[in-house]
Amino acid sequence: QTGYVTLDIGYKNTGATQSAITFLDGELGVLKYRGYPIEQLASKSSFIEVAYLLIYGELPTEKQLADFQLHISRHTLVHEDMKKFFDGFPSKSHPMGQLSSLVCSLSAFYPESLKSNQSEAELDLSIIKMLGKMATIVSWIYKKSLGHPFIYPRNKYDYVTNFLHMTFGQRTEEIEIDPVIVSAMNTLLILHADHEQNCSTSTVRIVGSSESNIYASVSAGISALWGPLHGGANQAVIEMLEKIKEDGGDTDKWIKKAKDKNDTFRLMGFGHRVYKNFDPRAKIIKKACDDILEKLGIDDEVLEIAKKLEEVALKDNYFIERKLYPNVDFYSGIIYRALGFPTDMFTVLFALGRLPGWIAQWKEMKEHKEPIGRPRQIYVGKVNREYVDIKSR
Ligand code: SDX
Repeated sequence: QTGYVTLDIGYKNTGATQSAITFLDGELGVLKYRGYPIEQLASKSSFIEVAYLLIYGELPTEKQLADFQLHISRHTLVHEDMKKFFDGFPSKSHPMGQLSSLVCSLSAFYPESLKSNQSEAELDLSIIKMLGKMATIVSWIYKKSLGHPFIYPRNKYDYVTNFLHMTFGQRTEEIEIDPVIVSAMNTLLILHADHEQNCSTSTVRIVGSSESNIYASVSAGISALWGPLHGGANQAVIEMLEKIKEDGGDTDKWIKKAKDKNDTFRLMGFGHRVYKNFDPRAKIIKKACDDILEKLGIDDEVLEIAKKLEEVALKDNYFIERKLYPNVDFYSGIIYRALGFPTDMFTVLFALGRLPGWIAQWKEMKEHKEPIGRPRQIYVGKVNREYVDIKSR
């Protein structure tokens, strides 16, 4: 039989690999990095410590963490020639398109990363460079969008403080980075750091399986994350909440739209392929929203709309039957906005958080010497046909 038949196709439930990095239980709403519950890491750890844990498998000793942080701080500068690339982008071009291009261009400046059989030390150095340069590139994309001069990294700062210094710092004066913002940024980046075989991580693994270099593999992951069904949802949630606010905050009307099969509108930030219960990260972020907005003295109306939307949806049979709950993207944009980031930077911040996870998964794939990814298909096309001359068609 030829012609498409309705099959449940796609990578919806494929055991694509084996991994010891992150454990999810979608029914119970459990998320653990290397066996440690996300709730403990989010409240007790730091982003750079979680990055070490994900990449090397163990919580670091004080010396290991200090060496890791120092090694990274030695590689936060990017080649000065990279600045020319920033000038090439139209001023309103989306930060995710810039990030994907700029990260891939790192392979031009570090050709040693193109070697297939890198030694462990060479591989480790490319990992450190990727971590170090990503924060600089992300902050410079933001600065470029404002027409502000780039701020260079300062080795005296830890990873997250350095990122905030480059993002919100000014050439003309040293600014004090609010510890509330540093703590909130650490929590958000930890919550986004890994999530087993999601769309973008699977992309990083399959690109890396062809022995493509780390910069090209991460760049592919950034492109996958950009989509509004994946990391791009955090931007789409705020745009949705703003639309509901402008529409008078009528959440019932928008819930009805989300249920209407003839309407393409979806409740962004709701639903998840794996979590059929609460996304544990959403719970943590929702609580952090109240805390951070209060500490920063911000009263954001869209937070109230988000809470009302969640409350109404969780009582509605359509959402209950389909086990649709708020996911990590539903509340995260409200905090990013409170910290001073524009909406189109939200997914870039997701990418910065997810970077250690992508690196850990890419490293694991290489250590396991996984074969090049090459799935098969169900062929439903025409079977045998003879070529017909154009005059006879
Ligand atoms: C992330 O995989 C990961 O781990 C990703 C992530 C990570 O950390 O890497 O957690 C990050 O990407 C979170 C998800 C962010 N995306 C969104 O918030 C976009 C809105 N959500 C959906 O598009 C959807 O829920 C997905 C894409 C997240 C999951 O899609 P699935 O599992 O393929 O589910 P589906 O599209 O088959 O939907 C099942 C049913 C359908 O209805 P019926 O056909 O059964 O009648 O649920 C409905 C869908 O119409 N549905 C929704 C909905 N999500 C699913 N209806 C309204 N609003 C929604 N948000």
